[in-house]
Amino acid sequence: MLIVRLLTTALCMSPAALALDLDRLPHLDGPSGACQSLRSYLGFGKTALSQLDLRYIHSRTSYWNTKLNAHAPSCVVFPESAENVSLTLKVIGSTGSKFAIKTQGHNTNDGFSSVEDGILIDLSHMTGKSYDEATTLATYEPGSSWGELYEYYLQFGRTVVGGRIHGVGTGLALGGGMSYLSPQYGMACDSFRELEVVLPNGDIVTASSTQNPDLFFGLRGGGGNAFGVVTKYTVQSRPIGTLYAGNLIYVSDHSEEILKATRDFILYNTDPKAAILMNYNILTTPDLALGLDQAAVMFLVYDGENPGDVYANFTAIPHLLNTMGPKKYTEVANLLLPGLAQISRGDNVFRIGVHRADDDSYRTAWERFHQWSQDHKGDYTYIHLDYNPVPKSLTDASKEQGGNAMEMPDGPWFWAEYTLTTPPLITTAKYNEIQASFKEMVDGTPNAEGLPMFLNEAHADQDALKSFSSYSRLQEIKAKYDPDGFFASKTGGWSFS
Ligand SMILES: Cc1cc2nc3c(=O)[nH]c(=O)nc-3n(C[C@H](O)[C@H](O)[C@H](O)COP(=O)(O)OP(=O)(O)OC[C@H]3O[C@@H](n4cnc5c(N)ncnc54)[C@H](O)[C@@H]3O)c2cc1C
Ligand SMILES: *[C@@H]1O[C@H](CO)[C@@H](O)[C@H](O)[C@H]1NC(C)=O
Ligand SMILES: *[C@@H]1O[C@H](CO)[C@@H](O)[C@H](O)[C@H]1NC(C)=O
Repeated sequence: MLIVRLLTTALCMSPAALALDLDRLPHLDGPSGACQSLRSYLGFGKTALSQLDLRYIHSRTSYWNTKLNAHAPSCVVFPESAENVSLTLKVIGSTGSKFAIKTQGHNTNDGFSSVEDGILIDLSHMTGKSYDEATTLATYEPGSSWGELYEYYLQFGRTVVGGRIHGVGTGLALGGGMSYLSPQYGMACDSFRELEVVLPNGDIVTASSTQNPDLFFGLRGGGGNAFGVVTKYTVQSRPIGTLYAGNLIYVSDHSEEILKATRDFILYNTDPKAAILMNYNILTTPDLALGLDQAAVMFLVYDGENPGDVYANFTAIPHLLNTMGPKKYTEVANLLLPGLAQISRGDNVFRIGVHRADDDSYRTAWERFHQWSQDHKGDYTYIHLDYNPVPKSLTDASKEQGGNAMEMPDGPWFWAEYTLTTPPLITTAKYNEIQASFKEMVDGTPNAEGLPMFLNEAHADQDALKSFSSYSRLQEIKAKYDPDGFFASKTGGWSFS
């Protein structure tokens, strides 16, 4: 009966009238009521109610942390416009259901973009994108991967500041967003110029330096799913041509030299076109005292055809493979192995550390990590430690564009990102024990005072927002835009309390 009524309503009314009628909806409790209403309003094409629906299966099982695939949402909705998102939030709000907002599902934290017994809002159908030659601004909806965006903008000789790997989604920019181009242009969020946002109450607003500037501040690196749903990004695009980029792969133990070269690069490199990522990998296979369980991989990306000798300290270390050469930006987003992000799916979690390079932490962090890897053979299939430089040119570029929610102090400093992939088929007790031990290892290297953690690579239990000097300002912004605590109580994400 009810469904018939809702259907007739949906068919006969304009969207504006629809919104009004929502207030008069007979109260439907819980997620199944919300799902039925959403099917009636949005139609079959935008809602998947059955766990056997292929669209439901794909949304549910495409998390980079495959542990999150276990969650069964009550239904999945695929909005195609800000109006659809607004309606979805209103229905969810009126039924008191839990929900999650998902783009490419690469966040490793439980409940950030996944939900059990609630509505999964999958933004992957919102893939609109455009480029305005007159203003050089790029506009895109949230549903594309970075690789798809890079492919699109390349036809104009332009790109947008975003992720380093093809498959990651636009939620990356809401958590700051570290790009190979960041030393030149700042974090991904620093290039935001205007955002279209659906607030928790369903209102569709604009956030920019002149409209709702506090909201704009919060969305530039204060994390996704906190203040609303971003349905459109307008950003400053950047010129892009041929880059000189690739990997250096080292086996056997060259850790001393690699760490030193990385430390020196963080401290002394002054060329903003030169980006690096140091990636140290250890497999669970026995070491046999030859270092055969480990491989270090340098990701080296120069925005230009001639890097000079900027990477000479890395090439001087004996290596197994050097894939450096001229590449298109779309190839740069696919370094090492095309499809790496796919292969690396597993029971993955991230943890973050933040350090200065002029003390010993670049070495002690690695030593603790390495010791843990040797003491815990069998507790992981794979772990890695990445060093992400934050040079002064990056923090300068951020400030020039108004700064972001991290209020990044002047570089150089660096983020240390740890990834742990636990073995499949272990008990929950064992899983928890390994996670606790790994956490203790990471926490054993104290973070530098006054530097922000990186939300995109932080574990939920690290309370990363509290490391921001802007924390109390962010709390006020959260209270203003989510006054009823709808997002705070019904979806996962960073805690503001
Ligand atoms: C293989 C891999 C490579 C990575 N490389 C990088 C890198 O180069 N640089 C970097 O900075 N980080 C990197 N990360 C970390 C990445 O930025 C975070 O995992 C990020 O949260 C992923 O965003 P997503 O859109 O793919 O994921 P999701 O899990 O879908 O979304 C992330 C969070 O943002 C929220 N969200 C997403 N879109 C919206 C929206 N439109 N409105 C409101 N909330 C939204 C979601 O609810 C969720 O809480 C990488 C991660 C992986 C797994
Ligand atoms: C959903 O979005 C589509 C595309 O903009 C629009 O045609 C439709 O009217 C919207 N429906 C609702 C209920 O918001
Ligand atoms: C290379 O290493 C030397 C010290 O060995 C250092 O002085 C120099 O600045 C480094 N260069 C870069 C670009 O990191």
